[in-house]
Amino acid sequence: MLSQHTMDIVKSTAPVLEVHGVTITKTFYKNLFEEHPALLNIFNHTNQAQGRQQTALANTVYAAAVHIENLPAIIPVVKQIAQKHRSLGVLPEHYPIVGEFLLRAIKEVLGDAATDEIIQAWGEAYGVIADVFIQEEEALYTEAENKSGGFRGFKEFEVVNRVAENALITSFYLKPKDGSALPEYLPGQFITVQVSIPGEEYTMNRQYSLSKAFDGENYRISVKKDVKNTPNGKVSNYLGENLQVGDTLPISVPAGTFVYENTEKPVTFIAGGVGATPLLSMYHEAAKGNHSVQFIHSASHLNELAFECELSQVAMTNENASYNAIATDQLGKISAQFLKENVDLNGEFYLCGPVGFMQMVINELDELGVSREQVHYEFFGPALTI
Ligand code: HEM
Repeated sequence: MLSQHTMDIVKSTAPVLEVHGVTITKTFYKNLFEEHPALLNIFNHTNQAQGRQQTALANTVYAAAVHIENLPAIIPVVKQIAQKHRSLGVLPEHYPIVGEFLLRAIKEVLGDAATDEIIQAWGEAYGVIADVFIQEEEALYTEAENKSGGFRGFKEFEVVNRVAENALITSFYLKPKDGSALPEYLPGQFITVQVSIPGEEYTMNRQYSLSKAFDGENYRISVKKDVKNTPNGKVSNYLGENLQVGDTLPISVPAGTFVYENTEKPVTFIAGGVGATPLLSMYHEAAKGNHSVQFIHSASHLNELAFECELSQVAMTNENASYNAIATDQLGKISAQFLKENVDLNGEFYLCGPVGFMQMVINELDELGVSREQVHYEFFGPALTI
């Protein structure tokens, strides 16, 4: 329990953290990895290089500090992050290390302005915030373990099939190598795969959405090749070029809070490119109901659309389901006019795709008077505010 004095110090210095937050977390990560390089086996190096992870961490620490007197207010955010932490294997013993380096970074960046009293108050506050995460994550580890076929951490899965969805996207079908049951998941959830690339010093963890509804048989992830060969695409390109039937990959139990919620209302899924993957499993699930279900898939070129047969088949076999494919080089971007004429604006919306795409669609839905409560979305990579 924090004293009122400690909470007052934390709240009054939180704005300073907001201003220097990203510098502090960048300093924090630099020092952390210099002294604990083994943690690079857990963190995504590209997110680090792009500063996205630093921004995400800084935003969260700031939000927690602002709400230090009422931490339950940040529980929804904690729940989302805890899902990712659990799927990556973040453990209680990692928290004191992160705490130590965070405090050192605050001191380093703020200099004399960070008095001993301030550092002490932040240390105590971090401890309380960390406990909220640790408890939430322990509940998730237990939940993952208690599922049929469930487990803690990572387990070897075998590739039982690989299918080219188009020139760039390959689907991999994965089954537990030890023949155990397949842990169930909710439509929209993802798995973390742990990839060891020859010549790379550290293992690389990446999250991929499960791109079909749970069937008890196998998981499917659909991985897009990065033609620009950016560092971010290293793992996807490695998998696309090297992962064959019979190979194995360590993966963790599915996780994630971006999931389809059953409803009687019309549902529209709007996907940009490979952002279709989490929405695909939701679409399969939603089409089983009686309400209208629409899948709009937008991609820059015709040959970048994928899963057309599968999506069309759901639409053909379920009267309530429909599917629109939009190649934007031919038909132009999804416009507010298009949405007004083609979708039920009173229903629920699920979006997934590149940040710019989602920003555009969300703005258009705003313009059309669709409330934010009706719109559910997820970004690739660390969550940033839109
Ligand atoms: C991801 C916050 C502690 C490892 C994240 C994200 C946030 C966050 C906001 C982005 C979530 C997203 O992608 O949606 C925090 C806070 C912490 C904390 C506030 C302390 C109270 C830790 C610890 C570890 C850790 C102790 C383990 C050493 C990671 C990793 C990711 C992540 C590996 C995935 C992103 C990447 O690989 O770059 N965390 N975290 N975090 N966190 Fe934490």
